[in-house]
Amino acid sequence: MEERAVVEKYPDFRYNQEKERGFYMKRTKNILVVNGCIRGFESRTWRLAEAFLNAMNESAPEPFSCTRLDLAQMELKPLTGAFFEERQRFLEENNRSHPRFDLARQFAQADRIVVAAPFWDLSIPAVVKLYIENISLDGITFGCREDGMYGMCRAEDMLFLTTRGGFYTDGPMEQGARYLEALCRMFGIPSFRCIYAEGMDFCPEREEELMGRATEEAREAGRLYWK
Ligand SMILES: Cc1cc2nc3c(=O)[nH]c(=O)nc-3n(C[C@H](O)[C@H](O)[C@H](O)COP(=O)(O)O)c2cc1C
Repeated sequence: MEERAVVEKYPDFRYNQEKERGFYMKRTKNILVVNGCIRGFESRTWRLAEAFLNAMNESAPEPFSCTRLDLAQMELKPLTGAFFEERQRFLEENNRSHPRFDLARQFAQADRIVVAAPFWDLSIPAVVKLYIENISLDGITFGCREDGMYGMCRAEDMLFLTTRGGFYTDGPMEQGARYLEALCRMFGIPSFRCIYAEGMDFCPEREEELMGRATEEAREAGRLYWK
């Protein structure tokens, strides 16, 4: 009874114990793909993600598990009214095992994270922000101490794939990749990479060239993912 409580609280506990005893089973890597593309098969961003995922899948040296969340289909709720109050109450009661926190636990336990989302209104679509509101939880994805916040996520990296209508690279108007990179710091995810195609609507005559370049970069990232 005692041990089960500990195992639930610290998912790595049994793994670490078995590792110490020298008979642990190697865990398969668990990749979380967060799809924030709204336009389905029309989405250029999702085309980039597919190029990456296919190459990553083909080059995998061993089986892995992959979960894809299609945010546009998930009817995520904003933190308002009773939904917000309930969250605050659970946190005050230190009750983090409620199913409404499943997404946060899933995010915290992923080994690697891939996010695909287009550039909307200088940032990301609202569904991605709704997702972030739902996974950003003190005690699950990050923690707080007197000296500040610390990350609690297991993931070693986040890859962000995006396409933009205009050209923004590294400029102050680009708030999508910048924001996700900052979140990685908060969640304790040490590595962040963004692969993007820009100028999709500003230079439609160059779309094929610019998408081609980004797609090749995504494929290469997939081929090297496990190295
Ligand atoms: C609602 C909406 C907001 C957008 N906001 C911007 C923007 O602020 N800046 C920009 O350069 N492009 C903007 N775009 C254009 C998209 O970034 C561009 O078309 C992108 O390639 C769309 O990705 P998708 O094909 O994966 O949907 C916006 C498009 C939509 C539909």
